[in-house]
Amino acid sequence: MQAMHRIAVIPGDGIGREVIAEAMKILDAVGGVEAETLPWSAEHYLATGETLPPDGYARLRAFDAILIGALGDPRVPDNRHARDILLGTRFELDLYVNQRPVRLLDDRLCPLKQRTRTDVNFVVFRENTEGVYVGVGGRFKPGTPDEIAVQEEINTYKGVHRIVRHAFDHARGHGLRRVCMADKSNAMAQGHALWQRVFTEVRAEYPDIEASHLYIDALAMFLVQNPGQFEVIVTNNLFGDIITDIGGALQGGLGMAASGNIHPGRTSMFEPVHGSAPPLAGKSVANPIGAILSAALMLETLGRHDDAVRIERAVEGAVHAGEVTRDVGGTYSTVEAGAAILRRLR
Ligand code: NAD
Ligand code: IPM
Ligand code: MN
Repeated sequence: MQAMHRIAVIPGDGIGREVIAEAMKILDAVGGVEAETLPWSAEHYLATGETLPPDGYARLRAFDAILIGALGDPRVPDNRHARDILLGTRFELDLYVNQRPVRLLDDRLCPLKQRTRTDVNFVVFRENTEGVYVGVGGRFKPGTPDEIAVQEEINTYKGVHRIVRHAFDHARGHGLRRVCMADKSNAMAQGHALWQRVFTEVRAEYPDIEASHLYIDALAMFLVQNPGQFEVIVTNNLFGDIITDIGGALQGGLGMAASGNIHPGRTSMFEPVHGSAPPLAGKSVANPIGAILSAALMLETLGRHDDAVRIERAVEGAVHAGEVTRDVGGTYSTVEAGAAILRRLR
């Protein structure tokens, strides 16, 4: 009998809604998924004053997984709903692993000269529950010429240790040989000294893995100059956010990039790396591949490897045939690009 997983679907805002619609058609065709759609979004917030209900996180925990589109709307300039729904869920469900694969599906899509699929194939593990994202800080004398703004970066031994260990475990479990940790310990001599300490401790337990360190600025340079040297990258929350947009570009564009917010063994949340892209919203031009590959990553994480591979093959088929949206060189609408993948599901 086929496995049945209950998933919460939060389409969210802008192109999030359009790409999630395509991902859901793929999941329906694969089967074994029972979905409940939750309305939490800018629209819902503006209409009700509620970002998510008081029992929102508890409700999410009762699902096997969560699939989310994107949150962000010019009508909510302080991004409050995104903070509660997206960042809040990362924190409340303690989804400390942000797994962001960077895999070029077709040489044609790479923006780098003379680089091919073998050069762009690595995974970034972004710490997802600490760093500057915790919102510790405040403003003194706001709006005056004397304004002081403080935003603390939080690094804990437990938090750094579990993400660094996860990166090494992933490498070992997937037959990969190299892990690179990136920080800014030359300038951030307190917080990132902790990353150095933890990395030294953890790498000693994995003598089979080649461990290296780069300062984040050098990593950004090497990602463009010679990405083929990377297999697994681990870094903090903010640096991981930034370098995975570079990762999106290496795959042909942000619309191609998938991610998972994971706490191994617990309810986890999957989403494309991109945002709600207000200028593209409502035009059926958004690339649904990042969302569809995020759904595949969800199935993989739920232990449904064969279903995940089926989806990935179908996506590769559509990409190789050029049956894609215009951001990656095609002429297809969002819906047509989704249908081209659906047709190839075997
Ligand atoms: P964005 O990712 O929404 O878009 C940046 C640009 O990337 C777009 O203008 C477009 O050119 C391209 N792009 C992104 N996704 C694409 C797709 N699927 N197909 C084709 N092209 C695509 O980033 P932004 O403009 O900085 O942010 C817009 C809003 O989204 C903001 O409110 C931001 O806070 C929010 N955001 C949300 C998430 C999330 O929910 N996970 C992630 C990033 C940004
Ligand atoms: C991402 C996004 C979010 C982040 C924003 C919307 C807060 O950019 O998921 O990459 O910074 O984590
Ligand atoms: Mn981002």
